[in-house]
Amino acid sequence: MSPAADLITFNEATSAEAFASRFGTPDDATARLLSAVVGHVHELIKEFRPTQEQWRKVIDFLTEVGHASDERRQEWVLFSDLVGASALVEEINSRRPSGATPNTIRGPFFRTDTPERALGSSISLDGIGEPLEVEGRVEDLDGLPIPTAEIITWQANAEGYYENQQPDLQPEFNLRGLFRADQDGRFHYRTVRPAGYGVPGDGPVGRLLAQAGYPLHRPAHLHFVLRAPGFETITTHIYDDSDPRLGEDALFGVRPELVRPFETDGRSGTKVSVKFVMIRARPGKSK
Ligand code: BEZ
Ligand code: FE
Repeated sequence: MSPAADLITFNEATSAEAFASRFGTPDDATARLLSAVVGHVHELIKEFRPTQEQWRKVIDFLTEVGHASDERRQEWVLFSDLVGASALVEEINSRRPSGATPNTIRGPFFRTDTPERALGSSISLDGIGEPLEVEGRVEDLDGLPIPTAEIITWQANAEGYYENQQPDLQPEFNLRGLFRADQDGRFHYRTVRPAGYGVPGDGPVGRLLAQAGYPLHRPAHLHFVLRAPGFETITTHIYDDSDPRLGEDALFGVRPELVRPFETDGRSGTKVSVKFVMIRARPGKSK
């Protein structure tokens, strides 16, 4: 028999199968994932039946996303975040028992080199904005304190910009800090109230979505990473419950248990109280 007799004829009905049949190791996870992705792309093409011109526009867009990505900006991550893919992967992989603090996406503005600060100090290095006090407790599912917990926080300023978006306007490490919980698992620090903001809309992903009328807004929030030996690391947000646009988060990160009142009383200013509940590390799960 000629080798051609083994080939699957490529047509609309067989295209995905023709692709999948060429893998030498169909049991390999990469081969299975690639076949599945390509199968979905072929289905999409059959459903929408793009012209060559329209398909070239798709390729041009993907090319632009690649060109807009470098070590300072990751447009592909933004793409994944804005279409809800990051939130879905997070949801599938870090589902925790009830009562534990849920994970949300980390986003592009986190810095690994955040400086450690003393409990009670201020992370607002320029002092611009409405003062806010943050106090919290890190505990386990039984309500016992986790004294060794490390709390890393970062947030936008009162105008909705992160320090690394405005290196010429904000002091380095403004509105960022690493704190260690005390023996009761408690921590507190001073900051300024963050504003909601638009996710970067100046790249190909933001432009495409804005053109399609998609909201690029994020309601006001604080970011946190919580770490403690023997516990699963938590990456999460706390949202300001007075933000009128809480329901419009472009990144699908708002969970009822992460929304907290930012309470103002005439004498002591604005305060938010948070509680983070960590669970013991599970084999095969994040850190
Ligand atoms: C953020 O909340 O910092 C963020 C997350 C993903 C994309 C853009 C911003
Ligand atoms: Fe943010």
